[in-house]
Amino acid sequence: MIVTVVGTQFGDEGKGRVVDSYGDRADVVVRYQGGDNAGHTVVAGGEEYKLSLVPSGAVRGTVGLLGPGCVVNPETLVSEVDGLRERGLDPDVRVARRAHVIAPYHRVLDGAEEAAKSDEGVEAGTTGRGIGPTYEDKAGRRGLRIGDLLDPDLLRQRLEYVVPTKRRLARNVFDVDVDDHPEAFDLDALYDRLSAHGERLDEEAMTVNAERYLAERREAGDRILLEGAQGTGLDVDHGTYPYVTSSTPTAGYAAAGSSLGVTHVGTGEVVGAVKAYTSRVGTGPFPTELDGDLAERVREAGGEYGTVTGRPRRIGWLDLPVLRHADRVNGLTGVAVNHVDTLTGIDPVRACHAYERDGRRLETPPALTEHWSDCEPVYRAFDGWSEVDWATVASQGYDALPDAARTYLEYVVGELDADLYAVGVGPDREHAVERAHPFA
Ligand code: IMP
Repeated sequence: MIVTVVGTQFGDEGKGRVVDSYGDRADVVVRYQGGDNAGHTVVAGGEEYKLSLVPSGAVRGTVGLLGPGCVVNPETLVSEVDGLRERGLDPDVRVARRAHVIAPYHRVLDGAEEAAKSDEGVEAGTTGRGIGPTYEDKAGRRGLRIGDLLDPDLLRQRLEYVVPTKRRLARNVFDVDVDDHPEAFDLDALYDRLSAHGERLDEEAMTVNAERYLAERREAGDRILLEGAQGTGLDVDHGTYPYVTSSTPTAGYAAAGSSLGVTHVGTGEVVGAVKAYTSRVGTGPFPTELDGDLAERVREAGGEYGTVTGRPRRIGWLDLPVLRHADRVNGLTGVAVNHVDTLTGIDPVRACHAYERDGRRLETPPALTEHWSDCEPVYRAFDGWSEVDWATVASQGYDALPDAARTYLEYVVGELDADLYAVGVGPDREHAVERAHPFA
């Protein structure tokens, strides 16, 4: 059985908690795209774990695999694994030899291009982790792969081509003084650092041929959980381009980015994580965005600060056109709606049912991002709900939710072709009402 978990909005929908709760019944958790731009917080047994690369399931003792569709910064990988070990965990993390490597020059170039774009006011507000430049090199056939780090001659050969081109790009296009960044632009320093990472990954037997590894696990009848990072609105094909990440978080890529066949992935389930309102970090359109006291209140109640960058997240009402789009492009079978507790005490709670653009009603967003700014949200108002003991609600089940919260949830799910699998009522793994389990 294969289950895919995706974000339906702009990331930070609480996928980590969903993956963590399904991870218990999974044998392998695979991330299929993105890199250390993805922040996920997992709270378990009162302990909080902030991870950006290691799949959340690894906190629970499940094998975590970074698939070939990921971009992997070996520094982050090693430091997260070491950090978890220091806290008494023993994560079993594997990384695909076909996954691409984020090298130090990718981070410098990410910052340099964002700075250049911001002069024109068109920056994406990236996490600065080098994600875009690494995927560019992958598509440009000049990338480094994890397997290359284990082969010193091959690594040297690749660097001999790529480093001089990066130096020229940095200097001539972005006006970067490359001598200020020897760790990023000095060939020998890069070689030493990257080959040392290769040795460590090899010593710990962390690298795998993912296609063979997953085929064997699947044939053995293992339960495989595919974890998408970011969200549909940040997908390079289906999101608010160009204010997107450089990979494909939607479920279609779960097959290619893990190396499981699409027919295998397609027989399983696709569960969408939904936040009960909307948040977004970085730039890009946001028709239901709020400001002032209400946004601040939700931001504080929901802890809405970026896990990776610490940036305050932008806050807005739930946006049904965004969710309908996510439902279509991912083929959702179920949804987990998180942060229902965060809206406590807000009355009324609003949800954008549709957009009005040029006198026409739109049920899903326009394809061109530039047209989102002419979209006027058409809201529906719902009665709010008051504070309850959410831990009790979680233990008693769906009927223990406040009536008004259930009305809101039923409206949301009624607009989608998916069932309500879970409702998140707090940050802890235990703070969730489970209605159905895809691995049941
Ligand atoms: P990048 O992925 O660092 O290139 O950033 C591109 C856009 O995606 C920016 O708007 C980031 O803020 C956003 N982004 C990247 N990763 C995440 C995430 O895990 N959660 C939310 N937003 C993200």
